[in-house]
Parts: sequence; structure tokens; C-alpha cells
Amino acid sequence: AGGPARVVVDLDLPGPTISRHLYGHFAEHLGRCIYGGFFVGEDSEIPNIRGIRRDVVEALRALQIPNLRWPGGCFADDYHWKDGLGPREDRPRMVNSHWGDVVEDNSFGTHEFMDLVELLGTAPYVNGNVGSGTVAEMSEWVEYLTRADDSPMASLRRENGRDEPWAVPFFGIGNEPWGCGGTMRAEDYAALARQYSTYVRDQGGDPGNHVTRIAAGASDDDFAWTESLMRAAQNLEGADGESGPYQAISMHYYTMSGPWADKGSATEFTDQEWYLTLSRATRAEELVARHSTVMDQYDPHRKVGLVFDEWGTWWNVEPGTNPGFLYQQNTVRDALVASIHFDGFHRHADRLIMANIAQTVNVLQAMILTDPDTGALVLTPTYHVFAMNAGHQDASALATHVVLPEQPREVDGRSLPMISASASVRPQEGTALVSLSNLDADAPRTLVLDLRGRTVTGHRVTVLTGASTAAHNTPEDPRAVAPAPLEDIRDHERGLEITLPAHSYTTVELQLG
Ligand code: AHR
Repeated sequence: AGGPARVVVDLDLPGPTISRHLYGHFAEHLGRCIYGGFFVGEDSEIPNIRGIRRDVVEALRALQIPNLRWPGGCFADDYHWKDGLGPREDRPRMVNSHWGDVVEDNSFGTHEFMDLVELLGTAPYVNGNVGSGTVAEMSEWVEYLTRADDSPMASLRRENGRDEPWAVPFFGIGNEPWGCGGTMRAEDYAALARQYSTYVRDQGGDPGNHVTRIAAGASDDDFAWTESLMRAAQNLEGADGESGPYQAISMHYYTMSGPWADKGSATEFTDQEWYLTLSRATRAEELVARHSTVMDQYDPHRKVGLVFDEWGTWWNVEPGTNPGFLYQQNTVRDALVASIHFDGFHRHADRLIMANIAQTVNVLQAMILTDPDTGALVLTPTYHVFAMNAGHQDASALATHVVLPEQPREVDGRSLPMISASASVRPQEGTALVSLSNLDADAPRTLVLDLRGRTVTGHRVTVLTGASTAAHNTPEDPRAVAPAPLEDIRDHERGLEITLPAHSYTTVELQLG
């Protein structure tokens, strides 16, 4: 094509709203996510609020996390919520068979989780048990959580110290039923999803709870699973004319550079593995688009939401750590995997109503890593991408075109342009946000940010990068990868000319006239 690299943004053509819930999180009873991550207990020397780590709460509040999914994952289909009530010393124990085969003492239960979400100022996404639970158990959990009057479960909640019901806007009907959640066939699970969803009732009253029921969806490119769930629900009405019996369907896709048995190291990788990983991250958008196309056949008006409630990198565990605990480091590469996902999410905001990165603390692509010995807390490069992108939450997506002079690199059978971008606008507030990722491992890239349709009166540019593609944060060097102002920027007749460092992520906050 020739000419400079360009990213063209039509500032005056606001598209669908980017739900804040696309920036959701996931916390499972797995390794040191809940225990030792969020929850250290009241007797810990680490400052805590009723056992919940204060610095973890503060760090996540700064991200404005919109929702938190709990208690799994695979753990959800082993979990019996009544075991997590009452005095901690009396709670039954269980084996966490999926994750390290360790004994779970149920000391973090429903009340502790709801305390956590209130401290975080976030919405709970509770995932129920289909695999080893019962319809009555799920139904009673919803009654316990959300009912105001003197029903049996509301009364039990009061006996356990909570008078007012909680608001629970999202409820999951099992997890990965094709695998750890019950090894089911698509048609068998679809029948159960209809049945269980029927008993996840809106309980009325104050706070007027309305639950979005989320049927457990496909892995990767299992479009037949999505089709089966859509077919099973077609022409069924829910409350208020919404689709029923479930209002959303989930999907899961993880990014790794190797096969399942050897997913790759989090911190030691070649340039080839760098590009392979980023190419596989771009597959997430393709999967969202294709699942959405299947849904379109049954639901052309897009009443049923798509919920991408597990995404992110999955590497080999850090050497010397428990293989069942899924503890991994987090580098500039993870940051760009996140930014690529968000660019794709913004483009599909009309169907995608929620997404949850796996997982928030100490597990998989975490925001926060804590040291098991010293308790030190580190914010990961991925945390900073969430922080830099917070302005996209509930803004209107903008069409964004990347025009590059060179042919895209071919990686793993797909084209990988070296720039990924997306943008959003808040027309009333007169602000816009542009996200730019330079995927080139070695070369900086100068581009023209071609801003059309509105006058730009001010800008603030922030960059996230590190000394190498594998740079990461540790207690000794917690800001090896941290946001900083980007100086290499000039006015241009079409907008701005910006030089993005190699392997970097940049946000441009715009004031509009
Ligand atoms: O996030 C880790 C695990 O990955 C979840 O428990 C499960 O749903 C998925 O397979």
C-alpha cells in the first residue's frame, strides 16, 4: 500500500455500548486465588478486613472491576453452598479434586464472597452446581441470596447474620458440562440448562433482583454446542419478554503457545513463540464472531447475550510450584494478549455482554501476584492494561481502521498485522479513548492517528512496555513494566503522529471540541 501506517478513527460515529462487564473477573477456589490471595483470615499479619486482604481490595477498586465470577470454574460443579455457612470451625470439609487434590475447609463461603464483592463495589456472578448438585440446591441458593421476606432460605440467611438480601445480577448454570462439569453431551446439558434455569427465579421485592441466567457454553470452536443451546431455547419467552429460559450463553478460550501437555513457559520464549501467542490471541475475536453467527440464526435481534467467562493465557506453572495451583508469571506478552482481546471485544459489543479473565489473583493470567512467604503484592502488566482501558467501560465503540503499508505476517495459518487498535467515545462528555498495540517484538512503529469527525482539543498518551518482551514485575522490581507518559508524539495535519516503542501498549485519551 505504501505511505505511513495509519489508524483511522471516526469520532462522530458512535456504535454499540461497550458494556463495563467486558472487563469482568473470575476467582475460583484454585491454588492461591481465594485462600492466600483474596482471603488471608482475620488472624493474618497482612492487613485485612474481616480476613480479606486490604491491599488486594484497594488495587482492584482502582480498576473499577465490574463483576466477579465465583466459586468456579470446575470447582463450581463440586461445590455445595450450604457447607460454606455458619461458624467456620463447624463447616464440613471437602476435597478440591480438580485443583491439587487439597482439602478445602469451606472457610470462604457465600457470606465471605458477598462481603468481598461489597468491599470491591462490584457485581457478583455466582456460578451454580449442575454436575454434582440438584435443582433444589441451586434454587435455594438463589432464594438465600436474593429474597427479602421470611421465606425459609431468607430466614436461614438472617440466622447467619445478614438481614437484607443481596443483589445477584448474574447466575451461571454449571460450568464446562462437556468436561469437568459432568462429561455431558450437548443435548443432555441443554435439557438440564432449561430445567435448572427455570428454578433460578427472580425473587422480587427489594432490591428488585433480576437475574441473568447464563447457560454453560462451548470450548474454543465447538459451534455445535452453541447451536444446541440456542436450538433448545428457541421460541421460549422469559420474564418481561426476554429470551428464556437462559438469557446468555458462555464460551471459553485460552491462549497458549504450545500444546495442552506443554503450554509453554510464561517468561522464557523465543520471538517465534511471541508471534505465535499473539496470533492465537487474535483467534479469540474470530471465535466470538463465529459463535455469534451461530446465535444469529436463532436470535437475529441479539436478545441472547454471549458471555466469554474464561479467557487469557495458560502457561506451564512456575518451576517449583504445585502443578495443580496454576501459578504463572505475567510479562509484556500477557499484556498484549489482553489488549488484543479487548480490541476484539469492543468490535463485538453488540453481542458480547460480559467477559471474565482467568483469574484475578495468583492463578493463570492474574492482575495481582502475592508472595506466599513474605506476602508482598505485585501488580502485573495485565493489571496495567485493565487500568489503562478503564475508560472504555460503558463508552460507545468507534469504527477503527488500521492501514499498514506492509503485508501482514503469516503466523499459524492466520494474518497477524503488527498493529492492533480499537477506540470508544463518550459524546456527552466530549472524550474518546484509543488503544494501540505494537506487536512487533523488535521494531518501534511510527503511525498517524487519523482522527475524523470531531475537533481534538487535547490529548494524554500513556505507554506500557518493558526492556524486553519477557519483562515482568517482581517484589524486587515491581515497576519493570508500568505505565508512563509517552513523549514521542507530534501534531499532524490529520491528527497525531505517534511513535510506539517495540512490544508496547499505548492509550491515547482525547478531549473533543
Ligand atoms: O480457569 C481454570 C479452569 O479452566 C476452570 O476451572 C475451568 O472452567 C477451565 O477448564
